[in-house]
Amino acid sequence: MQNIQWFPGHMAKARREMTAAMKAVDAVVELVDARLPLSSANPMLSDIIGARPRVMVLTRADMADRIQTERWLSHYRKLGMAAIAVDAKSGEGIKQIVPALEAAATLKRERDARRGIRPRPLRTMVVGIPNVGKSSLINRLAQRAVTKTGDRPGITKAQQWIRIGPVDLLDTPGVLWPKFDTAESGYILAMSGAIKPEILDTVDLAMHLVVFLARSYPQIVEDRLGLTPSSLATVDFQSTDDVGLVDGELSNLAIRRGMLMSAARPDVERLSEALVRETQTGKLGRITFEWCS
Ligand code: G4P
Repeated sequence: MQNIQWFPGHMAKARREMTAAMKAVDAVVELVDARLPLSSANPMLSDIIGARPRVMVLTRADMADRIQTERWLSHYRKLGMAAIAVDAKSGEGIKQIVPALEAAATLKRERDARRGIRPRPLRTMVVGIPNVGKSSLINRLAQRAVTKTGDRPGITKAQQWIRIGPVDLLDTPGVLWPKFDTAESGYILAMSGAIKPEILDTVDLAMHLVVFLARSYPQIVEDRLGLTPSSLATVDFQSTDDVGLVDGELSNLAIRRGMLMSAARPDVERLSEALVRETQTGKLGRITFEWCS
């Protein structure tokens, strides 16, 4: 996984480059992670896109809670956007993208026709935060490895269009920063693997993870981790006693898993790394961090 440290200068540059690229684009394919559609969205993208049609693509639908994904899809559709859930890795669901773009662009075509502008392929661009699945999706759409995996803020100079039926797709995606403006978003982005958790303490992250799971997916906590969801679900991190309770649960789990340091002390650090990894790889099951209310 590559990572960009999003300093204000990088953000300004990405925004500037995306705004410039947008001039050549008729419609946008916005990728968000189905497990965290809010925190994986860029807060400024709507401003940059303006009135252009937008197709929302929820990636990693294969790892997300199916019920929540359905709710998010209807949420976006109610807002007037086309919305599609995909597995950008296997390609499942991506066939719906080009027809959705066509439908979204109908108005523009009619306007062009009225002005006597000859119909031309709809120019589109894939946009999203690092690691959301942009390169995988472009490669799948183009049916060949045309883009290099890796991230750069904004967009590179040498752009090419890939023709996919009635659509021209820019071969280089637009890269924007995630919405890490609250502590909650930071935890969610790190738990999901959208950002490297190095800025956060791993044990702190694992503590928040088990409490989130106890509240939202008690079955996973009980069946896969063997912890008691009811006591974890009510934890208040402001309370020292509650923090002690979570620490105790993690220590017990480390002992049960044989993760020990010298003098048979539980290795909570190692356990925490394992829990975060198991969440990120889907081993704990389908999880959606941000639920659609
Ligand atoms: P980016 O261009 O937006 O930065 O993302 P990219 O396509 O490089 O995808 C980042 C990682 O996420 C890749 O894994 C990719 O396979 C995986 N990925 C992307 N979309 C999906 C999806 O819908 N479902 C699942 N399960 N995984 C997805 P990687 O570990 O970097 O490479 P590899 O595992 O493909 O070798």
